[in-house]
Amino acid sequence: MNREKRKIDHIHHAIHTGQHRLHGFEDVRFVHNSLPDTNVDGTQIETKIGELTLSSPIFINAMTGGGGKETEHINHALAEIANECGLALAVGSQMSAIKNKEEESTYRIVRKRHPQGKIFANLGSEATVDQAKKAVDMLEADAMQVHLNIIQELVMPEGDRHFSGALRRIEALVKELEVPVIVKEVGYGMTRETVKKLDEIGVPIVDVGGYGGTNFSRIENKRRTRELSFFDEWGITTVTSLAEVTSSASRLSVIGSGGIQTSLDVAKSIALGASATGMAGYFLKVLVDEGQEAVIEEVEHLHKELKMIMTAVGATSVEELKHAPIVLSGDSYHWLNQRGVD
Ligand code: FNR
Repeated sequence: MNREKRKIDHIHHAIHTGQHRLHGFEDVRFVHNSLPDTNVDGTQIETKIGELTLSSPIFINAMTGGGGKETEHINHALAEIANECGLALAVGSQMSAIKNKEEESTYRIVRKRHPQGKIFANLGSEATVDQAKKAVDMLEADAMQVHLNIIQELVMPEGDRHFSGALRRIEALVKELEVPVIVKEVGYGMTRETVKKLDEIGVPIVDVGGYGGTNFSRIENKRRTRELSFFDEWGITTVTSLAEVTSSASRLSVIGSGGIQTSLDVAKSIALGASATGMAGYFLKVLVDEGQEAVIEEVEHLHKELKMIMTAVGATSVEELKHAPIVLSGDSYHWLNQRGVD
């Protein structure tokens, strides 16, 4: 099966089979405050991840890269949406463009359509320093996302089977690149043990990429004759992953992602300690089903609603929202209890 067909399959299956709301946000409740002493007009949604300042805590997370008309069209639309809404944008994996020079132009156009905005380059943890430098240069990128997607690779019939040495390669990227490295999962979540290892090698930003939204096991299983369905329910939910990772004091910035679709999901992620939130599958679905303008309108609604939620909980900034009181219940509470997270 050629690569272009695989990417189109990913988009199709992500929209039709991959989207779930099993991320655990229903287990998180804000504690109502009758005297918040705030005004909607006075709330600021600017945030910082590592050394980067973002005008919104919402960004468009990495999706399918260059090569082929359909994926190219989606990339360009996402770049225009990011530009119009002032969002940071992560591109999909650039490895194929590094290996096939003629694909580079489809990435360079992303920078042209989002000239002043924040753009994150993207490669897997197999990337060498040289490849990562090329990926950053291709986009004049502001950060380098390195994805960890072990389960996706295992379920993918043509996927990778070698995962050793990733931490050492990431360490080299942290040392050699001039932009910050963001290590991200793609829907299986991260534990605090994983994040501790990343912290020790100097990674400044992690994206937990939790279970509960886009499900790459389900997506890849659709492309197999003998399914590995035991991986369909594998992973750490976005809520429990965020709670684990932010419970241990570290200088790392944490991004919440995995099934985020609403302003309340964004607000709850921040209250769990995230500094920003990435949305991928949901934006893709709105884009493909309803078009570019619909995504722009959706982002405007998300921003307005987020400010209302912040006002209700008495937070005037993202930093204050991080400390808004929440109560955890259900499976998330039990998971965190067993894992010894306060
Ligand atoms: C992705 N994702 C992804 N991530 C990455 O680091 N590099 C990539 O090339 C891709 N490609 C990709 C294609 C498609 C079609 C989708 C839907 C997603 C994963 C994405 O960035 C994110 O981590 C997960 O999708 C979980 O977030 P959502 O979709 O639940 O918001």
